[in-house]
Amino acid sequence: MSDAKLQSVLSSLSQMARQSDALPSDRPAPDASWVKLNTNENPFPLPTMIMKSAIAALERQYLYPEEDNISLREAAANAYGVSIDQVIAGNGSSELLGLVYRAFLAAGDRVAMMSPGFSFNRKLAMLQGAQFLEIEFGEDHSLPIEQLLLGPAKDAKFILLANPNNPTGAFVPVADIERLVAKSDRLIVLDEAYVDFAPENGLHLINRYPNLLVLRTFSKSYAVAGIRVGFGFGHPEIIGRLRNIQNVFNMNVIGHAVGMSVLAHRAAYADNHRHIRHQRQRVRLALSQLGFSVMPSHANFLLARVPTGQDGSWWQSALARQKILVAVFADKGLENCIRVSIGTKEQMDAFLSATKDINANI
Ligand SMILES: Cc1ncc(COP(=O)(O)O)c(C=O)c1O
Repeated sequence: MSDAKLQSVLSSLSQMARQSDALPSDRPAPDASWVKLNTNENPFPLPTMIMKSAIAALERQYLYPEEDNISLREAAANAYGVSIDQVIAGNGSSELLGLVYRAFLAAGDRVAMMSPGFSFNRKLAMLQGAQFLEIEFGEDHSLPIEQLLLGPAKDAKFILLANPNNPTGAFVPVADIERLVAKSDRLIVLDEAYVDFAPENGLHLINRYPNLLVLRTFSKSYAVAGIRVGFGFGHPEIIGRLRNIQNVFNMNVIGHAVGMSVLAHRAAYADNHRHIRHQRQRVRLALSQLGFSVMPSHANFLLARVPTGQDGSWWQSALARQKILVAVFADKGLENCIRVSIGTKEQMDAFLSATKDINANI
């Protein structure tokens, strides 16, 4: 393409696309020799019957998937004790988050997220040209209910709260969330991506409050991040609006089959979840003994403040030299933290051994 032609095409970009970087960075995916503890996946193999359902779905690969995800939504409705018109199914819960932003926000509108929170939300707000407010948690990760009702978030089109929260792993009691939802006339988006590792969940509240939308994903607790299955639960009118603006055939046949099979066999994950809770406690203790300060976590990861002397990025690079990936954050106050996902015992042994080694040689 000639330069003049390229310039002519680029001048047609929307303002939002023009503001973004010209070329996203293409980082090579880490191969199997890496211990990947940076994106909170669940590294266990699928239970056999779920694997079989994925393979069987391949035999129907020439057909489009079922329209409107009806069977999957029906199965989710039955599994979670709600009605089908209260359920939307997504290609991962990030697809559903994107729909919420598109449905509720026009340029200049406000959206509020409890902070620190899931950074993908910042990008979604930017794509809508929306103002993104970050509201800090109170002491001991409490929900600042009065501030959310009376402060700048009172004009937000919706308020986001991940519970357990990412990247901290902290948990707000569901009774506190209910107090906010009951008093607020804003939509509260309760992102329960990690809730299967936590003591309680807020799904039942959708029957009491039309201003609550609960999001779930099978990426973390059901070990299918690569297959992309997520759900939203809420009032039928809100769910209906979201379904109306969703891509046709948003999920594929494997996602449908695996989603249905996981819903039928959730009990098969009890050991998996027990293992993660156990390793979470073991790694928390071991890191504390090495001088890290570790937040109590109700998710499948730990946020750890590194010992004084170096920052989180330094530790991330030092661990990467030993082929171990962890996450770091630019958020205020998190510069000295690393977030480590909880994987298999062998992965956590490798992480702890590298961490000890690095700590001894600082
Ligand atoms: C809080 C939270 N919400 C949503 C997601 C998106 O999950 P997925 O799109 O895999 O369902 C993540 C993934 O890291 C997350 O941490």
